[in-house]
Parts: sequence; structure tokens; C-alpha cells
Amino acid sequence: MKIITTKDITRSGLDALFADALRFLEEDLGRWQEFKKSARHAIHYEHGVFELMPCADNAHYSYKYVNAHPGNPALGKLSIVALGMLADVATGYPQLVCDMTLLTAIRTAAMSALAAKHLAKPDSKVLGLIGTGAQSEFQVYAMRQMFNITTIRYYDHDVAAMQKFAQNMKDSGITLVACKDGEEVVQGVDILTTCICEKARVKLFDYASVKDNTHLFINAIGGDCPGKTELDIELVRNARIVVEFYEQTKYEGEIQHLEGEVAHDEIWEIVQGLKPGRRAEDGIILFDSVGFALADFSMMRMLHKREIGSETEILPQLENPKDLISLFKS
Ligand SMILES: NC(=O)c1ccc[n+]([C@@H]2O[C@H](COP(=O)([O-])OP(=O)(O)OC[C@H]3O[C@@H](n4cnc5c(N)ncnc54)[C@H](O)[C@@H]3O)[C@@H](O)[C@H]2O)c1
Repeated sequence: MKIITTKDITRSGLDALFADALRFLEEDLGRWQEFKKSARHAIHYEHGVFELMPCADNAHYSYKYVNAHPGNPALGKLSIVALGMLADVATGYPQLVCDMTLLTAIRTAAMSALAAKHLAKPDSKVLGLIGTGAQSEFQVYAMRQMFNITTIRYYDHDVAAMQKFAQNMKDSGITLVACKDGEEVVQGVDILTTCICEKARVKLFDYASVKDNTHLFINAIGGDCPGKTELDIELVRNARIVVEFYEQTKYEGEIQHLEGEVAHDEIWEIVQGLKPGRRAEDGIILFDSVGFALADFSMMRMLHKREIGSETEILPQLENPKDLISLFKS
């Protein structure tokens, strides 16, 4: 079985990794109907969540283990870490185990960029960013692959996180506008990415502040678990909603606060051309991203095709598969 570490993954560099990630993700969204899909399994604590995210086609079964612990950065740890496993459907034998922390950031950013490609104004230039933690630079990187972003308006309630972001972006050639709150960020933006990590029902800005910005595309990635949202419910009520997998988003996304069935499109329908991208009559479009297992499957399928990692024997190697006890004989 192959073990693939973060170091193995970073060796190819971000550009090549992101280009591949986008290609595998787009391919898999293009064959959405072939997958066995389900909402993820979650165990909640006051301070965080543990999730298992399975997805399979007829060749491979995969799952990702992932957490979200908003208090971790104060302990010097990431809020989110993840591990993945890809198995052979024919035999059930695992084929690889890999770090999915980095690939979670990459696949989320790739999904955001793909959604923006179809749903944001094509000449989008001003990006708003609320939350400048671990995901933030990946989100910027991805949007830059699709749009000529000239200005980023950003805010985080942690000044050190804003300084880190500014430092990482200082050679980007993008004009950086540090803002004092979410209300200031949203002024005049074409694309807005919200990516805070707080297990609470947060309102980062009022709907009234954006309601006349009728070409706005909002990519909300931080509201991704019951009781954890970022946006004004009035905004959610009034936007065109696009989700990854409704069955899961209904309980985890910004739309969790809306009663009854919510009118929506799934992103695969738009990628496959079955539903329209941005239409003139759309107004604000909200991509209510929570993270879906198919995107993780795509990342593991991508790793599987790469000649990286190291072979390690974790499972029993037996001459007679019925003689498991022989492992204790010398
Ligand atoms: N949708 C997806 O597919 C997906 C994938 C990965 C992560 N996420 C979510 O994205 C979010 C960000 O993840 P991360 O890894 O960057 O976390 P992180 O902890 O590294 O960064 C979050 C940042 O938000 C800031 N913040 C928290 N509350 C705030 C508030 N009220 N106002 C302004 N800033 C605030 C924190 O100071 C921190 O810098 C998390 O909620 C995570 O669960 C979603």
C-alpha cells in the first residue's frame, strides 16, 4: 500500500498540483451520475467536529477523515487536518493512505474557482475575503487562475492573521486593502469569499450592504456544519443558491436556517451544462460550499495516478489467505 505524505504532495509545486486538481475535479463532476454518494457522517462536540466522507465509483472507494476545531490555532495547531484512503473496488484492498490536509485546501479552492468560472461576472476584478486563515491564500490563488484579480479587500478579527496574509501576498502584484470589518470588505467587490472558522451563527455583514450589488458572486466556504454559518439569513433568502450535494448542504450550509425545501442547483448540473451558469436576471449568486466527498475522491484518484509516495506493508501478507494465525508463527 502506498503512503503519501504532505512532502510527497508538495514536491510537484502548487501550479502543477492545482492544474491537475482542477482537471480531475472537472472530469468527475462531468460523470457525477456514476458515483455512489451520501452525506457525510459527523460527530459533534462543543469545540469541534469529526467527519467521515465516503464516495465511490465502480473502480475505487474512498473516504476522508477530517476535523474542524476552531480553537486549535491558539494551541499552535491547524483548525483542520485530514487523512484519506483509496481502495480497490474489485478486492476491497486499500491502495493508498494519504495526507488530505493540503488537498482539502486545494480541492476546496478548485471547487470555488470552478463555481466562480460559471457563476461570477467574467470580468471580475475585485475580490473580497473575510477570514485570512489557512484556506485564504489557496482561495486567492484559485480565483486568480480564472479572473484578472487586481484588488483584494480583506478582513480577519485576528490582526496577526491579516499580517500573515499581507506578507504572503506582498509580491502578488495585487492591490491589498486591509478592512476594519466585513461591512467594509464587501464594498464594491465582484467576488466575495467568506472563510472564517467559528462554531456559531455569525453575520459577517448585513444583506443591505450588498443587495444593490446585483452581479455579486459569494463563495461561502466557512459555514459548513450544523450551527456554523457566516451570512445574513436575508441574503440567503434572496440569492440564487448553488450547492455541491443538496442532501448534505441542507443540514450543514448557509441554507440550514431556511425552512422547507430550498430552490437550488447543484454545481455538477451547471458543469455538465444541464443548468445555466450566471443569467442576466440572477442578481446575487451564493455558492453555499460545505465540501463534498466527490472532490476528495478526485484528489485521491489524482494521487493514485502519480508516481509518488512510498510502499509500506501495513496489511497481512499471506501465502494462504485462510491462514491468518500463521502471522504469529516464526
Ligand atoms: N467548504 C469547504 O469545502 C471547506 C473546506 C475547508 C475548510 N472549510 C471551512 O473554511 C473555514 C476556514 O478554514 P481555515 O482552515 O482557513 O481555518 P483557520 O482557523 O485557519 O482560519 C479561520 C480564520 O477566521 C478568522 N475568524 C474567525 N471568526 C471570525 C469572525 N467572526 N470575523 C472575522 N474573522 C474571523 C480566524 O481568526 C481565522 O484567522 C472553516 O470554517 C472550515 O471549516 C470549508
